[in-house]
Amino acid sequence: MLRYMAASHRHPVFARAYAWLSQRMEPEIGPHRHRLLTGLTGRVVEVGAGNGLNFAHYPTSVTHVLAVEPEPHLRGLAERAAARADVPVEVIDGDASRLPLADASIDAAVTSLVLCSVTDLAQALAEIRRVLRPGGELRFFEHVGADTPWLARIQHSLDATVWPRIAGGCHTGRDTTGAIEAAGFSIDKLERFRLPDVRMPLPTSPHVLGTAQLD
Ligand SMILES: C[S@@+](CC[C@H](N)C(=O)[O-])C[C@H]1O[C@@H](n2cnc3c(N)ncnc32)[C@H](O)[C@@H]1O
Repeated sequence: MLRYMAASHRHPVFARAYAWLSQRMEPEIGPHRHRLLTGLTGRVVEVGAGNGLNFAHYPTSVTHVLAVEPEPHLRGLAERAAARADVPVEVIDGDASRLPLADASIDAAVTSLVLCSVTDLAQALAEIRRVLRPGGELRFFEHVGADTPWLARIQHSLDATVWPRIAGGCHTGRDTTGAIEAAGFSIDKLERFRLPDVRMPLPTSPHVLGTAQLD
């Protein structure tokens, strides 16, 4: 069972492609990462940290980041990014569905471009809720399901066929904000925008960036 779980997060081709592509998209995505993390304080858990591109954007008011990343190649890159960060970042192997943290032990949780990929979205959000202290917050930056029916139909078709297989388990059409609210959070800040900001949207173009508090 343990061996199966470890193997299920290995995406060697996707991981290398994501590491390459995400670096090239950083001029456009970096400002959103920065806004996502501005004003955070204290102890933070970042779920699915990938190659660690958020680390450079944490403000120095953050005292510790526990960065959980199950994919081995991305985790190795995250460890290198952690060594260059201005705040203490500890990178560990782990899964959103079982965070290695005590109840109510964390001031804030961060997800960026990861809730599309977790196997069980409700369970991941329940874990984030469990580890957040009362008054703690969830910061999220995610690509989500489209408002426009024609793009939503394309997303649905992709999610039912090739997309999760070629993109490390990613789904293009998730109702992530609905899931956050269903998990018992109140969303108090929410921006919706298209990324990249081009006229003809891609299936992964609709994005949200926001903050949610525990009810
Ligand atoms: C598209 S990448 C985003 C990486 C990073 N958060 C960023 O903003 O660039 C999706 C990440 O989610 C991670 N992931 C997928 N399933 C996960 C799970 N169940 N628990 C934790 N991380 C997961 C992947 O390994 C990958 O690093």
